[in-house]
Amino acid sequence: MYISRRAEFSASHICRNEKLSAQENQSLYGPGANANGHGHNYVLEVTLKGDPDPETGMIFDLKDLKDVMLREVVDPMDHRHLNFEVPPFDKVIPTTENVTLEIWRRLAPHFADGRARLHSVRLYETEDTFVDYYGG
Ligand code: NI
Repeated sequence: MYISRRAEFSASHICRNEKLSAQENQSLYGPGANANGHGHNYVLEVTLKGDPDPETGMIFDLKDLKDVMLREVVDPMDHRHLNFEVPPFDKVIPTTENVTLEIWRRLAPHFADGRARLHSVRLYETEDTFVDYYGG
């Protein structure tokens, strides 16, 4: 069984590879490479997998899941410039793929034991574009 919770945060980023020229960055990332950066309203969906506890009928307390998502992701990233304020994005290009991977890394230790395991992280950068990560 799977349970999911959604959270939103807004953050700015620049997608630019310092090893490439301005022109190469522009052709690779488009306006996303502009030095001023730009913002997204990210939508995060976190899914846990497990069997309901026979005592509580729950896989995991969704209130506790919300707390973990707030503490590990929303509070540190909301209204931040990812490249300048949220490590490792001073060194790692904050594409949606890399932000999704970082979110997984922050959340996974909270579900390393116990009934509920982290199953997937989905991050929408726009309404039409999103990344899914299933670990491994
Ligand atoms: Ni962008």
